Amino acid sequence: MKIILLIFLSFLWAQDFEYIGINKCKTCHKSEKKGAQFKKWEAGPHAQAFETLKSEESIAIAKKAGLTKSPWEADQCLKCHSTGYGMGGYEVKDAAFWEEKTEKGKPTKAVKRMGGLQTVGCESCHGPGSLYKKKKVMTAVYKGETDAVSVGLWRIDEGTCKQCHNESSPTYKPFDYDKRYNEILHPYPDDME
Ligand code: HEC
Ligand code: HEC
Ligand code: HEC
Ligand code: HEC
Repeated sequence: MKIILLIFLSFLWAQDFEYIGINKCKTCHKSEKKGAQFKKWEAGPHAQAFETLKSEESIAIAKKAGLTKSPWEADQCLKCHSTGYGMGGYEVKDAAFWEEKTEKGKPTKAVKRMGGLQTVGCESCHGPGSLYKKKKVMTAVYKGETDAVSVGLWRIDEGTCKQCHNESSPTYKPFDYDKRYNEILHPYPDDME
């Protein structure tokens, strides 16, 4: 029994923060009553960041930079136009991967997860969700009973945005944090318990 407990505990310790994808966050963060964070994100600039890589402008930028791959497959673009790229998040996959289905003909978990990491999602700003995604954990963080950072939630500041909003972006526009911050907010309603 002790040994089983030890194995179980070491399994927990070995668990790392993993990127889980936008669809998981959507399940719990879409209701108007609680601020509809998913809808606000969907209507904002980050939801389109991956599609942008398929535009003519992107193809021209990639060509000018001498990239040998399409922008939507190039490290040089994906590191800012997808979630957790190079950090265990989004990865470039071939067509066969995207076609993988379960026996019931539905996309596999791996396909759904990868699809949910394809653009700049919640976890690009909030941090990888594997440990905080549980309702119990989230509620405890909200109530101040659990330290947010210990379960993988990042404290968001100007540096969080500047991972991507910096001079190495080929279309860089000077980044005014206070102004931009207000453009992407998705707060709880004032009357939420
Ligand atoms: C099983 C449901 C569930 C899932 C999945 C979930 N959340 Fe939450 N989240 C909650 C609840 C419940 C709260 C507490 C506030 C509330 O009642 O809405 C919360 C609170 C938060 C907070 C505020 C924490 C604080 O300091 O008050 C953030 C940020 C957040 N969630 C982000 C995310 C992100 C990003 C994802 C996906 C990676 C995610 N959540 C997935 C249920 C969930
Ligand atoms: C993982 C990279 C990444 C992070 C982190 C990030 N952004 Fe962005 N952001 C982008 C990309 C890429 C675009 C362009 C999307 C497009 O046009 O398709 C963008 C666009 C925007 C825009 C639209 C206006 C503009 O400048 O074109 C605003 C506003 C914005 N981001 C605010 C923020 C704020 C505020 C933060 C931090 C709280 C942040 N972003 C964090 C990648 C990021
Ligand atoms: C360092 C992060 C970063 C990298 C690398 C990056 N982008 Fe972006 N991209 C952004 C951000 C942030 C924006 C929002 C506008 C801005 O401030 O550049 C953006 C916006 C864009 C836009 C929309 C331009 C507009 O007018 O708003 C295009 C097109 C684009 N990127 C293409 C690319 C391509 C193609 C690559 C790869 C060659 C690339 N980006 C690499 C961060 C990046
Ligand atoms: C561009 C960065 C960015 C993205 C992407 C993003 N958020 Fe946030 N989120 C913020 C910032 C900034 C705050 C304000 C609180 C703070 O500074 O921590 C916030 C606050 C929240 C809160 C707490 C609201 C409050 O009033 O305290 C929740 C819940 C939340 N986000 C969920 C999500 C979910 C779910 C997604 C994806 C659908 C998402 N966020 C995507 C930056 C982001």
